[in-house]
Amino acid sequence: MFNLVILCLVSLLAYVYSVRNRRQLSVPPGPRGIPLLGNALQLPKERNWLTFAEWAKTYGPVIHVSIISSSIIVLSSREAISDLLEKRSLMYSDRPVVPMAGELAGMEQFTAMAPYGQRHREGRKLILGAINTLKAPELHIIEESKTADFISRLARSPFELRSHIRWVVASILLQITYGINAVDYDDPFIRAMERALKDFSDIAAPGAYLVDGFPFLKHIPECFPGASFKRIAREVSDRSLQLERKLYRTARDQLDHGTATHSFVTDLLANNRNPTPEEHEMYQQVSTQFFGAGLDTTVSSLLSFFLIMAQHPEIQRKAQAEVDAFVGDRLPKFSDREDMPYLEAVLKEVHRCNPSVPLALPHYVRREDVYAGFRIPAGSTVFANTWAVLHDPALYPRPEEVIPERYLDRSDEQSDLNPEPRDFAFGYGRRVCPGRMLAEDTLFIVAASVLASFNISDVIPREGGTVKYGGGIISHPDDFTCTITPRRAV
Ligand code: HEM
Ligand SMILES: *[C@@H]1O[C@H](CO)[C@@H](O)[C@H](O)[C@H]1NC(C)=O
Repeated sequence: MFNLVILCLVSLLAYVYSVRNRRQLSVPPGPRGIPLLGNALQLPKERNWLTFAEWAKTYGPVIHVSIISSSIIVLSSREAISDLLEKRSLMYSDRPVVPMAGELAGMEQFTAMAPYGQRHREGRKLILGAINTLKAPELHIIEESKTADFISRLARSPFELRSHIRWVVASILLQITYGINAVDYDDPFIRAMERALKDFSDIAAPGAYLVDGFPFLKHIPECFPGASFKRIAREVSDRSLQLERKLYRTARDQLDHGTATHSFVTDLLANNRNPTPEEHEMYQQVSTQFFGAGLDTTVSSLLSFFLIMAQHPEIQRKAQAEVDAFVGDRLPKFSDREDMPYLEAVLKEVHRCNPSVPLALPHYVRREDVYAGFRIPAGSTVFANTWAVLHDPALYPRPEEVIPERYLDRSDEQSDLNPEPRDFAFGYGRRVCPGRMLAEDTLFIVAASVLASFNISDVIPREGGTVKYGGGIISHPDDFTCTITPRRAV
C-alpha cells in the first residue's frame, strides 16, 4: 500500500516535470495580479521603488510584474543588474516606447528617451565632448563663481533655501550649455524649464494615460470625445519646442553679435561651421537635454545633503572641521577636493540614502532572453531598483543609518562591502548618466562651500511629522525649512 502511494507520487512528479519542460520556461515570479489590468492597481503612483523592494523580499531579485498587457522586469540585486544591464548591455540598452510622452509629445528624440541607435549615440557623444576631464578646468571656473554667488544669496535670505538651490544648479547649467547668465531666480528660462520638466513628469507617469497601455488609441483624431490627451500632448510639445528654440536662438545670437561667451552650443557651432537644418535641430535638442536632465536630479541631491547635515550635527561638525583645516578663511576650491575624504564619504551617503533617480530610467529588451532559468519576454521594460541595492544590508550593513565612516579605513576582508554608491546612482551600461562628472563636481563645490560658511540645523517639514521623499521618476524630499546660521561674514 505504502509503496503504491510512493509510486503514484513519483509518476505524478515525473509527469508534471515533463509537462513543464515541454512548455516554455516561465517568467520570473511576482505578485499575482488581476485579469486584464495585471498588477496596475497594486503599484502606488509615488515611491514605487519601495513597493518593488518589498516584493523582492518575497519573490527574489528578479521579479515580473504585468501592467495591462506589458511585462515589467524589476532587478533588485547588484548581480542581476550587472549580469543584464552591463554584461548584456548590447541587448538591454533600449528604451521603452511611450506613446504619450515619446511619440505624441515629441520627446522620443531626446537622448534620454531615444531608442538605442544612431541618434542616441550621437547625443551622448556631444554631451560627453563637453563633460570630461579635459574640459573640467573651464567647468570648474563657472561652478566656483556661481557657488560663491549662491553662498551670499543664502546668507541674505536663508529662508529661501529651495529657490537658491534651484538657482545655483540652473544657472551653472545655463552658463555651461548656452553661455546665458541667469541673474534672477525668477529667470524666465529657469521657470520655463521647470514647467517643461513638470509637464514631462506628468505625462510620462506610468498609467496616467490610457494610450500608453493601448497604443492604437494614438490614431483617433483630436476632435473625438475622449481624445483630450492629444490636445494635451500637442500643448506640451509646443511649449517645449518654444523653449528649445528660444534657448538655442539666444546662444546663436550671441555668436552673431560677437558677444558670445564660450558654451556647449558655441563649441558645437565652432566645430561645424555649416550645420544642416537636421544638425541644428539635433544641437537644439541635445542642448535642451543637457539643461533639463541636470536640473531636478542635482537639485534633489543637494536638498538631501542639507537634510542629512541638519539631521546629523555630529557628521556636519566632522565635515566642517575637515573643510576648515584646509581652507581657512577663503571658500573651498576644486583643488582642495583630494584633501577632503570625509566630505567625499558624506556625499556618497547622500547618494546612497536618497538616490535621486531610484529606479534609474527604464531599459527595454526587444528580443526574448533567458536569465537565471527564467524567460524574459521580448518587449519587457526593465527597471533596476537602485534604491533596493543601496539599502541591501548584505552590501551596506545598517543601511538605514547615515555612516560616512563606512567608506573609510576599510580592512581587506571588508573590501566587498560598501561599494561606491555612485556606481549605482547614475545608472547602468550604455545608458549610464553622461552628466555624472558635472553633477559630482557641482555637489562637491556647493557642499564644501556651505560647510565652510554655515551651520545647518532644525529641520521643520512643511507638512509636520518627518520629511518624506516623494516623486515619480525623480525622487525629492518634500518641502522643509531649516535654520541656516552664518559661521563668518560672507
Ligand atoms: C545628481 C545628479 C544626477 C543623477 C543622480 C543622475 C542620474 C541619472 C540616471 C540614473 C540616468 C539613467 C541611466 C540609465 O538609464 O540606466 C541618467 C541619465 C541621463 N543623465 Fe543624469 N543624473 C544626474 C545629473 C545629470 C546632469 C548634470 C546631466 C547633464 C548633462 C545629466 C544628463 C543625463 C542624460 C543625457 C541621460 C540620458 C542618458 C542615456 O539615455 O543614454 N544627468 N542620469
Ligand atoms: C556652529 O556650531 C558650532 C557647534 O555646535 C558652535 O560651536 C558654533 O558656535 C556655531 N556657530 C554659529 C555662528 O552659530
